[in-house]
Amino acid sequence: MSQWTKHDLLDLEDLSKDELELILTTAKSFREVSSRDVKKVPALRGKTVVMLFFEPSTRTRISFELAAKRLSADTLNVAASSSSLSKGETILDTAKNIEAMNVDAIIVRHSCAGIPKVLADNLGPSIINAGDGCRAHPTQALLDIFTMKDKKGRIEGLNVGIVGDILHSRVARCNITALNKLGANVTVCGPSTLMPVGVEKLGVQVSYDVDDVISKSDCLMLLRIQKERQEDKFLPSIREYAKKFGINKERLKKAKKDLLIMHPGPTNRGVELTADVADGEQSVILEQVTNGIAVRMAVLFLLLGTKEE
Ligand code: CP
Repeated sequence: MSQWTKHDLLDLEDLSKDELELILTTAKSFREVSSRDVKKVPALRGKTVVMLFFEPSTRTRISFELAAKRLSADTLNVAASSSSLSKGETILDTAKNIEAMNVDAIIVRHSCAGIPKVLADNLGPSIINAGDGCRAHPTQALLDIFTMKDKKGRIEGLNVGIVGDILHSRVARCNITALNKLGANVTVCGPSTLMPVGVEKLGVQVSYDVDDVISKSDCLMLLRIQKERQEDKFLPSIREYAKKFGINKERLKKAKKDLLIMHPGPTNRGVELTADVADGEQSVILEQVTNGIAVRMAVLFLLLGTKEE
């Protein structure tokens, strides 16, 4: 097993199979902290973690904040809309001012791909990508894979179907990268207009038949249809998408009994999946959220807690 040497977490492309496995193992050891009466360990006492989110978030922001707090770090949220960015300051200047206050990590989400890399290239604190444009969302993919491994006992040889808007999905891209490194078989499925040209070069099977993908999968990851992008006319209508690709109880009759239904959230009930599937016994959507805290504790601990002082 490798020792951790990375300073930032920008993309899972940058990590080896051993490093991915080290995060998963570390997350497993932290999971029980959240079920204690006193949900805290002193691992990051004295460290300061800043959340700098330029896009809305429920799960990722709260989960990172809870993860940092449960490791005893001090946390701070910077709301981009009420910072001096609104007065014309650049993102880099804002981040350099935060750095000047001697923080240890900046967790950043931005609609532009590459912003976390710009910050990592120019700043001293560890930079953690909490989602950049359509490019990467590494901790989401890690918590997805942690959940798969927890439920199935392995990743090697698992058949994972990813259904929906593959073109715009940073979650799909990151999952494909890591699942391939860990030996899973990935099939992507969705409307042809939402499938990146040359996607098979990423090492995935491509299917346009969701029923076929359902019948062969061990884990089915549904992606949010990004309604904010539909003015670009990628789909005839949301209703059409739901009819052709939406997962409902009828469709699940063809699935393996122990198929896992997964979704990174936020879900559009009635679009990617029906409410009874979202809340059904095969759904692990809320377990993914719970596991996200342990995974983010592991990431923060490896980046900040294992450095020589
Ligand atoms: N899955 C995810 O990134 O959710 P949020 O946008 O709520 O953070």
